Amino acid sequence: MPALSDAELRALLDFAHTLADAARQQTLPYFRRPIAVEDKGASGLYDPVTQADRAAEEAIRSRIKSVYPDHGILGEEHGYELGASPFTWVIDPIDGTRSFIAGVPLWGTLIALNDGERPIFGIMDQPYLRERFVGSRLGAELVAGSERRTLQARPCADLSSAVLLCTDPGMFEGAEQEAFAALSTRVRLRRFGTDCHAYGLLAHGLVDLVVESGLKPYDIQALVPIVEAAGGVVTDWAGGPCYDGGQVVAAGDPRMHAAALAVLADAARPAT
Ligand code: IPD
Ligand code: CA
Repeated sequence: MPALSDAELRALLDFAHTLADAARQQTLPYFRRPIAVEDKGASGLYDPVTQADRAAEEAIRSRIKSVYPDHGILGEEHGYELGASPFTWVIDPIDGTRSFIAGVPLWGTLIALNDGERPIFGIMDQPYLRERFVGSRLGAELVAGSERRTLQARPCADLSSAVLLCTDPGMFEGAEQEAFAALSTRVRLRRFGTDCHAYGLLAHGLVDLVVESGLKPYDIQALVPIVEAAGGVVTDWAGGPCYDGGQVVAAGDPRMHAAALAVLADAARPAT
């Protein structure tokens, strides 16, 4: 895949902003208002979805199809549509539907463009707070109304000084539970319930670690370019790419990332 010029990348990013704007119009009117919630959990686990999730994804898809009809689309609510071009838009109309229906403003609309190998940019938009986190090789920024702020993750090498975020400690299964417990008891502070916002706060330099599991590609692809462009590192628990979701460790400082991976690997090692 030949590299895009900066101008081409900017044009695609500008278009992605219009997708986030379109999603806002579908989600915000429903937030903190009565809305029907359906449970799509096939396995017995509660997995809510609303008209806002579906309408926002439809709005995004119809715009992509009219402007880039050869691009593929992968979205949480309406599945995968293969494109003729190597580009695929990876979207989660509402990441954090549980937060959305509980009135917690930490959900977001996630939009990534994958070039066939990796997400080349990502947007995480929080309409209620009017915060839009953007990342690409052109940089990372937070757009808040008319204000624009460059995002920079903060240095933090020691686990004992770290602030760790995670959406729900109940997301870990089997040996992951012990691994997460080993890590989370070594940090200074843990906070839960943060959904995609956790990665924005990491890029903002306010926290040091995000550790999660059980994610889907559309839960993480938009967040990787934001964290990386702010100087952070995001991988799976083995240090490899996490574009397919699953286990994720994001750190603002590469030394913190290495320290977290070491604890997780150590805890997962069978006792001798
Ligand atoms: C969820 C969020 C949440 C994570 C869950 C996901 P959804 O996405 O990403 O932070 O803990 O595993 O399912 O379902 O609300 O789009
Ligand atoms: Ca979702």
